[in-house]
Amino acid sequence: MTPTLIATIGPAGAGKTTWRHRHVPPGATVVSLDETRARLAPCGCSANQDVNAAAVEHGFAATAAVLAAGGTVVWDVTSYLRRFRTRLLDLAAEAGARTEAVVLLPPLATVLARNGRRDNTPCPDCGYARRVPEARVREMHHAVTAALPGLHTEGWNTLHFGVLPPDLRHR
Ligand SMILES: Nc1ncnc2c1ncn2[C@@H]1O[C@H](COP(=O)(O)OP(=O)(O)O)[C@@H](O)[C@H]1O
Ligand SMILES: [Mg+2]
Ligand SMILES: [Zn+2]
Repeated sequence: MTPTLIATIGPAGAGKTTWRHRHVPPGATVVSLDETRARLAPCGCSANQDVNAAAVEHGFAATAAVLAAGGTVVWDVTSYLRRFRTRLLDLAAEAGARTEAVVLLPPLATVLARNGRRDNTPCPDCGYARRVPEARVREMHHAVTAALPGLHTEGWNTLHFGVLPPDLRHR
C-alpha cells in the first residue's frame, strides 16, 4: 500500500474537524492536536497551549511510524504556517508517501462567528479557553489566504479545495 498523508489547511472554525469526521478513510490514523493536547494536559484542556509543542512532536512521531508501515495519516490541523507544512511534506517524502492537502477557507466572517460561539471561559488551571483569540483567527485566515496562490508549488501531490469564500470559488 502506498503510504498517504492527508492534511487539512484552514483557520480555527473552518470546519476541519467536521470534515475529518465525515471523510477520513477507513483504517486511517487521525492526528488531532486538540485531542492530543487534551490527552497530554494535566487539566485535560484541548486548548492548553503549554503542551502544544509536545502534542506536535507526538503527531510527527505517529506520522513517521504509520507512514513507514504503509498506512494513511490524516492531520486535523490548521497548517497555516509554511514551515509546518514543509515539515509534514518532508516527513512524507522520507517515507515515500503521497500527500494530499484539503483547504478549508470559509469567509473570515464565518470563521469568526463560529469561533465566537465557542466557550470563552478560561480554564482555572491553564488559563486557556476553547475560543481562540479573535486576532489569532484573523491571522490564520490571512496566512491561509496569502498561501493559496503558492500551494501548488509546495509539493502536495493533490490539493482539494473544500470550502472557499465566494470570491475565490470560480477562478
Ligand atoms: N460545512 C459546514 N456548514 C456549517 N457549519 C459547519 C460546517 N463545518 C463546520 N461547521 C460548524 O462550524 C463549527 C466549527 O467547525 P469545526 O469543524 O470544529 O472547525 P475547526 O475544526 O476547523 O476549528 C462547528 O460548530 C461546526 O458544526
Ligand atoms: Mg477542530
Ligand atoms: Zn486547562
